[in-house]
Amino acid sequence: MNARITTRLLTFILACGACAFAAGAAGGPSVEKQPFGKAGDRDVDLYILTNSSGMVAKVMTYGATLTELDAPDRNGKLDDVVLGFDGIDGYLGKEPYFGATVGRVGNRIAKGRFTLDGKAYQLATNDGPNHLHGGTKGFDKVVWDARVATSHAGPAVLFSYLSKDGEEGYPGNCRVSVLYTLTDAGELRLDYTVTTDRDTPVNVTNHSYFNLGGAENGDILGDELTLFADRFTPVDATLIPTGELAPVAGTPMDFRRPTPIGAHIREVGGHPVGYDHNYVVNGQAGKLSPVAALYDPKSGREMDVSSTEPGVQFYSGNFLDGTITGKKGAVYRQYWALALETQHFPDSVNHANFPSYVLKAGDTYRSTTIYRFSAR
Ligand code: GLA
Repeated sequence: MNARITTRLLTFILACGACAFAAGAAGGPSVEKQPFGKAGDRDVDLYILTNSSGMVAKVMTYGATLTELDAPDRNGKLDDVVLGFDGIDGYLGKEPYFGATVGRVGNRIAKGRFTLDGKAYQLATNDGPNHLHGGTKGFDKVVWDARVATSHAGPAVLFSYLSKDGEEGYPGNCRVSVLYTLTDAGELRLDYTVTTDRDTPVNVTNHSYFNLGGAENGDILGDELTLFADRFTPVDATLIPTGELAPVAGTPMDFRRPTPIGAHIREVGGHPVGYDHNYVVNGQAGKLSPVAALYDPKSGREMDVSSTEPGVQFYSGNFLDGTITGKKGAVYRQYWALALETQHFPDSVNHANFPSYVLKAGDTYRSTTIYRFSAR
């Protein structure tokens, strides 16, 4: 069943995912729901959000995953600027979190171990010796509930998921929600809310791979990146922070001014070579602050990222190696896209000097990230 709804109507209707809605005026902001196949025995739905200027975001219930984002270039031409697959099958196989909501704890936990309230926990080690992005079946690999949401800002869909006590080894029943809004100001806005009945670490983020030139149009090494961060968290060979907050000044990590991503990438080191580091955002944690600006000189597209999170993992697509064929048959090679994962710092649960991401029973975790698109 397809449903097409105008956001104006939504102001008056308490919507639910399974309901049918009267069609709204053609061409206005809308949300459309389509079937997107199955994950095991669960149906997967795709929600298509269109804002007043024709930008489109497609998000599916499997992993609350952004599968497509059509943004205008300097001539007003829309192109899909995120990597992914044409159908559900690609997402069900081994793939590197394209567009997914990751958690319960995004990024790494050293050796999958932590101690909380005097109890030791051992999580899955799914990234060499470490735990990565919530484990073997994290938030990216489950089917979320979804319903069209009411928003004056633009078309919106609310995804929710109950992560049960003990899931992937984490304590506490967590109710997680992600509200995706495609605002009429050209922003994709993500609002996360989590509650728990036991203290637990929570670090939810989105793992979109952006290529502002278009997902099938080559590497991102010529894109100019600004990161509003004076410091980063150096890592060991397994990408676990040493605990130090090091200045970026005078190093290949310095993106305080717009800098082509390829300018110093060979000097960064790593296996494979490239950026896969958490930056310490200059702003005040908990307040929306500028995180990054990304500009593609060829298409003129620009993306400004702001967030309430204290850190951002800048990942330059180092592990892409040409073995994945994505949308429209494009082969995703190294540096084909970058991720800017707004988050708390990696392995925070084992570093007392990092901002804590432990959510206390009864408290509410709130986090917002905005990706604003423009062109010049
Ligand atoms: C994150 C990590 C990377 C890599 C990707 C997925 O960005 O920091 O090291 O694991 O996810 O491939």
